[in-house]
Amino acid sequence: MALSPNMNVMLRAAEKAARSLIRDFGEVEQLQVSQKGPADFVSAADHRSEEILYEELSHARKDWGFLMEERGEIKGSAPYRFIIDPLDGTTNFLHGIPHWNITIAIEENGEIVAGIVYDPIRDEMFRAEKAAGAFLRNKRLRISGRRDFSQSLIATGMIAPKKPTHKHQLAQVEAVASKSGDVRRFGSAALDLSYVAAGRLEGYWEYNLKPWDVAAGSIIVKEAGGFISSIHGNDNPVYASGVVAGNGKIFDEFKRTLISASAEKDAA
Ligand code: IPD
Ligand code: CA
Ligand code: CA
Repeated sequence: MALSPNMNVMLRAAEKAARSLIRDFGEVEQLQVSQKGPADFVSAADHRSEEILYEELSHARKDWGFLMEERGEIKGSAPYRFIIDPLDGTTNFLHGIPHWNITIAIEENGEIVAGIVYDPIRDEMFRAEKAAGAFLRNKRLRISGRRDFSQSLIATGMIAPKKPTHKHQLAQVEAVASKSGDVRRFGSAALDLSYVAAGRLEGYWEYNLKPWDVAAGSIIVKEAGGFISSIHGNDNPVYASGVVAGNGKIFDEFKRTLISASAEKDAA
């Protein structure tokens, strides 16, 4: 199956950055025994990955803009920009847990039109382009068909206790855990979204995400036939403070459960 030129550019950049991260991940294991741990080393690995991505992508698409977790925004003259997280799942990486990824999206005039999420440890490349479907390598991705919320597996990300949404989220975890099949916290937002697209999870929600956590995953979910929205209101989920994704059969009940659990907490 022929890939589009934009997709090829993203895949090549991600695979190159992945080789650097894989080498660094090997070192991290050795550093666990040191007292300070590998924090500085991991931060350098993260920057190295972003450096490679920026170099590759800016070389291939000279007039495009960039939004990157570490370097921030670089404006371009084209109506396109890359949105990049060079290492998503940093805490896992830091602890030697093999669950992290590189993620890149393409935004055109404010709309995400393509994205990839690459887990190099499992060599799983999730990708999607607008109106062209979502794939895991060359296998078409389809959202889960489970229609019963009580049998659904739902993922979330926990936020720092000092954030104002923390008490809402605790109430939501309680509500979702009691109504769904089970709840998971894997530690990588982009992979959580990709797993929803792949039908491994029925749903996912989290607060306080950044555009680079959500951008690529959002189009992968949509192109696999899933739903994604802000939890409260109608904001673009890529820029919303809370994001919910899921298969269409459980989505309404799932979202209602989240909203009513947080409203009850407000009233309490
Ligand atoms: C984080 C991960 C994590 C999520 C956090 C993100 P980072 O990204 O995706 O799963 O819970 O909200 O910030 O810091 O590892 O790139
Ligand atoms: Ca991230
Ligand atoms: Ca990151």
